[in-house]
Amino acid sequence: MKHLLTDFDWNAAELKALLQQAATLKAHPADYAQALAGKSVALLFEKPSLRTRVTFELGAQQLGALVVYLDQSHGALGKREPVGDFAQNLSCWVNAIVARTYSQATLDELAAKGSVPVINALSDRFHPCQGLADMLSLYEVFGKLEGVKLAYVGDGNNVTHSLMILSKLLGVEMLVVTPKGCEPAADIIQATGIQVTDDMAALEGVDAIYTDTWISMGDDKDPEAVLKTFLPYQINGDVMKKSGAKAFMHCLPAYRGKEVTAEVLEGPQSIVLRQAENRLHVQKAVFLKLLKED
Ligand code: CP
Ligand code: NVA
Repeated sequence: MKHLLTDFDWNAAELKALLQQAATLKAHPADYAQALAGKSVALLFEKPSLRTRVTFELGAQQLGALVVYLDQSHGALGKREPVGDFAQNLSCWVNAIVARTYSQATLDELAAKGSVPVINALSDRFHPCQGLADMLSLYEVFGKLEGVKLAYVGDGNNVTHSLMILSKLLGVEMLVVTPKGCEPAADIIQATGIQVTDDMAALEGVDAIYTDTWISMGDDKDPEAVLKTFLPYQINGDVMKKSGAKAFMHCLPAYRGKEVTAEVLEGPQSIVLRQAENRLHVQKAVFLKLLKED
């Protein structure tokens, strides 16, 4: 049984094929209108979402599948009944479970106890579908992935981890710049060998700069302290100019005046809406890969 729980789940060849499939789906959506006719998918969200929910829901529908949305924002999964029971019941009716959970462990439990593929729609540890859309976006902008220099700046967590693993697998030269104490998880740094520094001067010569919110969903941080720690890491016109970066990236939602200025977010180098659009295409490719093989 194949899942997409972390970015380690698929090898480089599978990832490249997935991105190729996404590009084909983007170019010829009508050819796939019935590709998953007769299939059904459950979407299960413990946290808010705009992009992920809309693109998974529309993506499934555009492939001819049925979708059931389960709002779990009133409480973490496992409160009313064990996560394993939830997974076993859902597996009686649907062909895949898409889940946005606070904890990666919840996703692992859904996969362990259910009997259908589970797709990570963001956890505390990873955001693989975001990372895939970002790789497709980089490919579209730079015409290649191998050797493209991508810098992530800000808080080292879920999105950072996914970008690091995918970069390592796909040949993107990645660099991570975070304040001290906000580095990505040690096991991801070790597994990818990607350089992590607190020095913004390291951005010189990169092709693309990526940032994310300084306060992630589920974080319990003091906003004043966050501002103090992270303000030197804001992406503004000056940072873009000094680095020479051609593209600005953000998974969204963005907080203007915090991790990025409005000038950069809305400026000509910003490819954030391309990233958002590509969520749809890569997730349709993920559905095809996982549901065609079941
Ligand atoms: N980038 C992203 O996952 O956005 P949502 O939280 O709106 O789904
Ligand atoms: N790091 C952010 C990503 C949102 C898409 C969060 O976890 O809230």
